Amino acid sequence: PKSQLWGSRFSGGPSEALAALSASVHFDWRLARYDLAGSRAHARVLNRAGLLSGTDLAAMLAGLDALEADVVSGAFLPTVADEDCHTALERGLIEKVGAELGGRLRAGRSRNDQIATLGRMFLRDHARQIAALVADLQQALIDQASAHLDVAMPGRTHLQHAQPVLFAHHVLAHAQALSRDAERLRDWDKRADVSAYGSGALAGSTLGLDPEAVAADLGFSASAANSIDGTASRDVFAEFAFVTAMIGIDVSRIAEEIILWTTKEFSFVTLDDAFATGSSIMPQKKNPDIAELARGKSGRLIGNLTGLLATLKALPLAYNRDLQEDKEPVFDSVDTLEVLLPAFTGMIATMTVHGDRMAALAPEGFSLATDVAEWLVRQGVPFRVAHEVAGGSVRYCEERGITLEELTDAQLAEISPLLTPNVKEVLSVEGSLASRDGRGGTAPKRVAEQLEALVGAVAEQ
Ligand code: ARG
Repeated sequence: PKSQLWGSRFSGGPSEALAALSASVHFDWRLARYDLAGSRAHARVLNRAGLLSGTDLAAMLAGLDALEADVVSGAFLPTVADEDCHTALERGLIEKVGAELGGRLRAGRSRNDQIATLGRMFLRDHARQIAALVADLQQALIDQASAHLDVAMPGRTHLQHAQPVLFAHHVLAHAQALSRDAERLRDWDKRADVSAYGSGALAGSTLGLDPEAVAADLGFSASAANSIDGTASRDVFAEFAFVTAMIGIDVSRIAEEIILWTTKEFSFVTLDDAFATGSSIMPQKKNPDIAELARGKSGRLIGNLTGLLATLKALPLAYNRDLQEDKEPVFDSVDTLEVLLPAFTGMIATMTVHGDRMAALAPEGFSLATDVAEWLVRQGVPFRVAHEVAGGSVRYCEERGITLEELTDAQLAEISPLLTPNVKEVLSVEGSLASRDGRGGTAPKRVAEQLEALVGAVAEQ
């Protein structure tokens, strides 16, 4: 095939089977525009190093611009004979500017430093897009919290009723986790902010090209300090796969709750018709498919991370062709989140919250027993005794099929003389919520503070 970038030392062409295995153009073509940007930057450093005349540089840049227009319009497409995007684009450039000029661009660079750099450029762009999508989801959670600021719900541990909490507090817990994910993306970018251009195949270049100039041209703060590391490291890809998997997992935890909350038994929320699906056989069904897909896709995101880590494990320096396996997992993680997050955000933003239902269940399951124990502590009772007395009152109620709030003064005294009628002041959900007023607690005033801080944090993200 004419476009091949190697082959003069071989007596024959590659077998079809090898070409089929080796090809990456069907997935790396999406890097074409980054490769063209890299080529423009490279042409400029060749010019500065005296290896490309001013006229040649101008013709080269014009050719690259024309090629980019054809790439964008679809007029130029890779063929099966193009092994990868670099091969296809060199063929395209030669079609524009001829073999003599087009053949000069490859000097002083290798597909190894190119691909390591392009991957970073692609991931940095998409990290910013994903961060914006995460912020949208946080905003939807914040809006649901603000719209239901006074709604109490059963807080759970082990999925059992534990203590009443504000619905807003619960929802903002998810937004807090997503804030850390957004921070992870920003922090990741510091390590991604290094260009591998100039590393060559592994050892650098003899041609006096300026890697820092290429780096700056491509939006990087620095070029690789070590050309072997520049071409052979992929920890930045793996870290990206981790952060995207973590986002998927944090979303899956919201998803699982939506799936529970939409059941008849919970009836905490109803999904908007536009964000729910039906059944082909059961006419009454309304299914939370977006949440289920979020739960399912988190497994896929974990798979992308573990697959990539397995590729990197024990890989000797420097570049090995195994590294071609670095792209599909991270591309898939990008695609997965970029299609999942908008749907998920829409589902959260449009769901109807049944505050009355949540509030009605909030005091059930003796969720105020801790309030009784802590009331006793405030009366000077050791917690060990207080725990026993409050536990005894739960047993007493359970045996009689009544709730803690229904206990009469006489019954309280019968359970323990420590339970004077004043204990009733803590036997309400409102009282319980208001009293958890330390920083980070579920008291309405603390939740309002938290909400305000999060709104500010998301605005800055
Ligand atoms: N397609 C290759 C990759 O993704 C580009 C680098 C190929 N380099 C080579 N020496 N075969 O890693």
